[in-house]
Amino acid sequence: MVSKGAAMGSASAKEGWSSRSAFILAAVGAAVGLGNIWRFPTLAGENGGGAFVLVYVAFVALLGLPLVLAEIATGRIGQTDAVGSVRDVARRSNASTGWSITATLGTIGAFLILSFYSVVAGWVLYYAGVMGGELVSAIGRGDPLGGAFAGENNEQIQSRLGALLGNWPLLLGLHAAFMGVTWFVVSRGVHSGIEKAATILMPIFFFLLIGITIYGAFAGNFSEATAFLFTADFSKLTPQVINEALGQALFSLSLGVAGLITYGSYIKQSGGLGGTAATIALADTGVALLAGLMIFPIVFGASLDPAGGPTLVFQALPVAFQTMPGGALIGFLFFLLIFVAALTSSVSLLEVPTAWGKGELKWSRHTSATIFGLGAFGLGVFALLGYNVLSDVRPLGFWGIFENADILDTIDGFTGKIMLPVGVMILSIFIGWKADRKMMQAATGLSGGMFKLWRFLIAWLCPIAVGLVLLFGLFPGLLG
Ligand code: TRP
Repeated sequence: MVSKGAAMGSASAKEGWSSRSAFILAAVGAAVGLGNIWRFPTLAGENGGGAFVLVYVAFVALLGLPLVLAEIATGRIGQTDAVGSVRDVARRSNASTGWSITATLGTIGAFLILSFYSVVAGWVLYYAGVMGGELVSAIGRGDPLGGAFAGENNEQIQSRLGALLGNWPLLLGLHAAFMGVTWFVVSRGVHSGIEKAATILMPIFFFLLIGITIYGAFAGNFSEATAFLFTADFSKLTPQVINEALGQALFSLSLGVAGLITYGSYIKQSGGLGGTAATIALADTGVALLAGLMIFPIVFGASLDPAGGPTLVFQALPVAFQTMPGGALIGFLFFLLIFVAALTSSVSLLEVPTAWGKGELKWSRHTSATIFGLGAFGLGVFALLGYNVLSDVRPLGFWGIFENADILDTIDGFTGKIMLPVGVMILSIFIGWKADRKMMQAATGLSGGMFKLWRFLIAWLCPIAVGLVLLFGLFPGLLG
């Protein structure tokens, strides 16, 4: 099947994926990132484990999967940047082109997320360097399978994060390095940049993930970890927890900021997209759960607190790498794994505004990637200064839910709690109610019954569920 969009596609020199599997790899690379290995364990730990995990998985299946399909199909029809693609679907459906506001908001959102994502990825880079140094010194001692941080006490190990956050020139350098690599990949283009990076990095990622998980299962406390992650205590389910679970499902699948619309626009191949969307959602969720099974056995094995918060991965795990056999090596591989995952995701974030500059402003890819890369870098500089020079700044301090949020937390919270849900809500209303049904069925390639189910989830469940979560998340007072 050749979709209408592909048949009417623009210039022949248009960029695209070289195969269906290349697209899947790149999309899985975009989805799997800090969200899976840093954010998911943090939230699961803080929100009591099993019940949170269950709600998160339910959101992925009922809302995430249909939305992944909706975004990819929209991009495939439009064959251009996200704003242009939604506009194209609107035109072909005789709907207002004003619906493209969902993609405009998304493009801004991707730019904002990239700014702080690169800062956090810089911390990962730092820890990879620290653990690499520990590995080198373990080898120097003639004990390559020894632990890290020999002779240090827990406070000394954990103080590294605080020292890093206080050192803004170092943070700046790490942020610049990570953004530079991201820029390099994106400016090389879809085929020789993004696709190539994904085909090299994703196999390395899966190899490390499975290796460390198997290791942790033997070396850590696997039974306590599985009990924590998979036994649901429903008394822990508050509206806040449900809100966090929805936000995590959207963030982890890269939904709501036009990322998958953009990636979908590079699909030239024909064929249904249902299986492709399911593969992406399954792989992403599988990696999050595996990451939980990789991290929590180590956490419980070392008697650490699972509710350690955002610093769990950066402060708690290094303590475990001290006593764990092979700790220096495993620690180094662990941070390398997170770095690889973060890179294939940051690339997708920069690609959204880059494609927009190309499609809407007719800039060259190089110019567009440079301008938006530099812009996101500049905004990220404020986020990292928020830990030291500007630590008193609370950008949205007048707003209750952002009262105590520093600069980075404000950008994270504003995009995650507001922009992503609003983006998917507008998109689902548009696709569910306005987009031409025959065209959407052709673009998704779903059979009759599946198409009806998909449309029902997009038209009814998404707007209502996301709307309720937004309402109670933003106005907690409504629940008394
Ligand atoms: N999904 C990625 C992660 O889990 C982050 C990411 C990449 C993202 N592209 C996105 C998040 C688009 C929201 C929107 O780390």
